[in-house]
Amino acid sequence: MGAVDAVRGRLLWFEADPYLAGEEEAVRYVEDGLLVLKDGLVEKVGEASSLLPELAEGARIVDHRPHLVLPGLIDPHLHLPQTQVIASYAGHLLEWLQKYTFVEEQKYADPEIAAAASRFFLDELLRCGTTTAAVYCSVHAASVEALFAEAASRNIRLVAGKVMMDRGAPAPLLDTAETGYAQSKALIEKWHGRGRLSYAITPRFAVTSSEAQLEAAGALAAEHPEMHIQTHLSENDLEIATVARDFPWSEDYTAVYERYGLVRRKALFGHCIHLSARERRALGEAGAAAISCPTSNLFLGSGLFDLAAMRKTHPPVAVGLATDIGGGTSYSMLATASELYKVLALQDQRLTPFEAFHMMTLGNAEALGLDDRIGAFRPGLEADLVVLDAGATPAMAQRMETVETLFQELFVLMMLGDDRAVKATYVMGERTGTR
Ligand code: GUN
Ligand code: ZN
Repeated sequence: MGAVDAVRGRLLWFEADPYLAGEEEAVRYVEDGLLVLKDGLVEKVGEASSLLPELAEGARIVDHRPHLVLPGLIDPHLHLPQTQVIASYAGHLLEWLQKYTFVEEQKYADPEIAAAASRFFLDELLRCGTTTAAVYCSVHAASVEALFAEAASRNIRLVAGKVMMDRGAPAPLLDTAETGYAQSKALIEKWHGRGRLSYAITPRFAVTSSEAQLEAAGALAAEHPEMHIQTHLSENDLEIATVARDFPWSEDYTAVYERYGLVRRKALFGHCIHLSARERRALGEAGAAAISCPTSNLFLGSGLFDLAAMRKTHPPVAVGLATDIGGGTSYSMLATASELYKVLALQDQRLTPFEAFHMMTLGNAEALGLDDRIGAFRPGLEADLVVLDAGATPAMAQRMETVETLFQELFVLMMLGDDRAVKATYVMGERTGTR
């Protein structure tokens, strides 16, 4: 659709976490704002009245008023090969994995299936206003090739990796400590740092990796100290008992990953529901991130993410919010935030809409260590944007008639909104899709 020179709208972004810094410090809102874009980056941000006169004659300006314009949403945990696993009727995690997920993921040995799924997957993320994601592919290198190629053709910022898994699943889904290492290394050499793509070392979880494989993952991590690591941690009781059985020398689940050098900055731990205080401290001290996946945790009956405990830890654990497709049940980060709100309400905790929108943007960018590139509106950051309409459905429009504040409007968006509230998505200053 071509790049635009400026986007006008009700601009909203965050400079800090409103929970820590207070709303006054953290929230930036410009009622009639203008983002001036250049070469896919934000060049200027401010009042339309002061920036419009500076624009060159004939500049292409898109006016999204009265809608909100935010930095593109970020999803730091989801699975490419689970687009046809979502909404599979099952019991708990391990049963769901064996019965559906480990069957479906075998198809991703086929590059054409992986390519078709990648097209759908990125279309759907953009339709939901998600412009950056951290993605688990299948065990097959072909699935990473397909996703990176598709993301590159759209210039999307993406973090992804092939899952390393050498036991506890059907044979066609298994690599070995050696092949998992070698295939990951080859993918890193080919793709890592190419355009907006970066690789994540991805041992699936301790249940499906032998000690030799975790050691190989740790070796890769040591060779690439700045690279993302992603895995699952402490999601389900039976999973935790299995890890305790398989790693009898380890004092807890987190210590297994610590032993292999996998707990550090830019390490993303999905779920983190049943952690002890020691484990939270280990994550906090390492600067690793706990990624909450509320729709998944409710769907699989895994448990409730304890945000207050993460915040109380010294130093606090960085927290991200993610869909976890296909254990998760919605591609929409708005719908995901709504479920986190309810998960916290069940524990007598609260999540303000400012905190929730911070999480979906700057908070997730910080959890990924990408806040020097995305997540806010600052000159030099990449111009990934989402345009949101809090009156997108009849129920939302009806409720909006009585809304008086930005706080209330954002709460309507997160509690009632989903893909229907997304009016436009921009990647590096270019509008995507056709709506
Ligand atoms: N733990 C290991 N693999 C998975 C997965 O694919 N989904 C979820 N929710 N948990 C996991
Ligand atoms: Zn997951």
